[in-house]
Amino acid sequence: MKEPVMPGAVPNPLRDVLDRRLPRIAGPSVLVLFGVTGDLARKKLLPAIYDLANRGLLPPGFGLVGFARRDWAHQDFAQVAHEAVREHARTPFREDVWRQLSEGMRFVPGELHDDDAFDKLADTVRELDADRGTGGNYAFYLSLPPKLFPTVVTQLKRSGLAESEEHAWRRVVIEKPFGHDLKSAQDLNAVVDDVFPPQSVFRIDHYLGKETVQNLMALRFANTLFEPIWNRSYIDHVQITMAEDIGVGGRAGYYDGIGAARDVIQNHLLQLLALVAMEEPLSFTADAIRAEKEKALSAVELPEDLETATARGQYAAGWQGGASVVGYLEEEGIPSDSTTETYAAIKLGVNTRRWAGVPFYLRTGKRLGRRVTEVALVFQRTANRVFSHTATEEQGANSLVIRVQPDEGVTLRFGSKVPGAAMEVRDVSMDFSYGESFTEASPEAYERLILDVLIGDPPLFPRQEEVELSWRILDPIEEHWVKAGRPEQYESGAWGPKSAHELLARDGRQWRRP
Ligand code: BG6
Repeated sequence: MKEPVMPGAVPNPLRDVLDRRLPRIAGPSVLVLFGVTGDLARKKLLPAIYDLANRGLLPPGFGLVGFARRDWAHQDFAQVAHEAVREHARTPFREDVWRQLSEGMRFVPGELHDDDAFDKLADTVRELDADRGTGGNYAFYLSLPPKLFPTVVTQLKRSGLAESEEHAWRRVVIEKPFGHDLKSAQDLNAVVDDVFPPQSVFRIDHYLGKETVQNLMALRFANTLFEPIWNRSYIDHVQITMAEDIGVGGRAGYYDGIGAARDVIQNHLLQLLALVAMEEPLSFTADAIRAEKEKALSAVELPEDLETATARGQYAAGWQGGASVVGYLEEEGIPSDSTTETYAAIKLGVNTRRWAGVPFYLRTGKRLGRRVTEVALVFQRTANRVFSHTATEEQGANSLVIRVQPDEGVTLRFGSKVPGAAMEVRDVSMDFSYGESFTEASPEAYERLILDVLIGDPPLFPRQEEVELSWRILDPIEEHWVKAGRPEQYESGAWGPKSAHELLARDGRQWRRP
């Protein structure tokens, strides 16, 4: 299918002849940030915008507008942004870059339901067009709870800001969670869809902006080495782990009632599964990649017995990094009888010719042993064991581990003879590490994604079908858990609840110790 060409986007035929190694620079545009006083804006979005400016990837005609319920003048917003950048930006602070960026900053105070505030917003972006040549191209970034999306998109429509014009594009960027379940995700989409055409909607799953996640496709489809063994004939099972050492922190209001599975399995982990399980896309256009991911997600199969194929936990008090930490139920803002899970593990199947019979084990948790995200393909053992059990006592199964973070790279584990007179075989690693192989530092996921929004390049943004397919997978599990009562407690700083280890032990396997 031909991909729709958006105003301002590089047309497809040209894309094939463009050298993708050249820097991709955004054209004149305004980014309007809703939720500018939130944690995400301060820690990730504002620093990423500065980092893009510092890398020369924003045009001189760029404007940044903050919208919030604060009695701020333009300078107050610039001051808040300045502090966020000083504290969290990845690249060094440069006065000249900051000056150029901050000259294009504006702030609009107001409530989301206030028509006047949105009329003021419309005036502000048009003034920016006149003062800084931003060309009438506006991206609206909704870093807000989803329940506020309908109000904002309706206001954008009413104030005439949502509709693309002949030479000016309008885009909306929405942060997860996209709903709470399938039904609410569909309702939410209906609201957004009513105002913005599908090609103007950019749904952020920041894992897709990570270099190592994009590298999964390079690893698979740019090499001949891995693809022939990337299937049920060689792979025993797949483990996808996203472990965090932090607790719920200051996000109690967001997290409680959502829990680990809705927070990260529905999006980040199922996207990783899709990238591992999908077939090669016909091309690297957004439509082709999304189509393959959707096929993989449609093929996901839930085990019959959800009780034994899933595990849930809630962190109890313990030790982390040499400090004692409280349990989830003692965290500020968490009700003492909360049943929200902070750990979730799920066994899934992928019902395709490539994957039938290969379990995909997904796990995520807060307050685990350490922060690590990885995808591990664990291979079958050799059919014929030439070496005696004692000679290979320490040998495990071969594995290929894509280290998503923090120590980004790829590891291949295999058996090798230990030097000496005996024929002893032991596991060794062959490593690719980003730090050693490349001199370029990896950009933050949000740098890449914000740039793609401004350029109008959609491959790294899931479309609604993917969101819905993921909820179809998760909904029955969530329903099962509601009936199953309280999650099991696990000690902070350890590797999750007993039931998660039993889940794999029942299959004669064990979780990797990253
Ligand atoms: C977010 C989740 O999407 O990802 C958070 O809402 C989680 O709960 C965060 O802490 C982790 O992101 P990263 O990039 O640090 O792995």
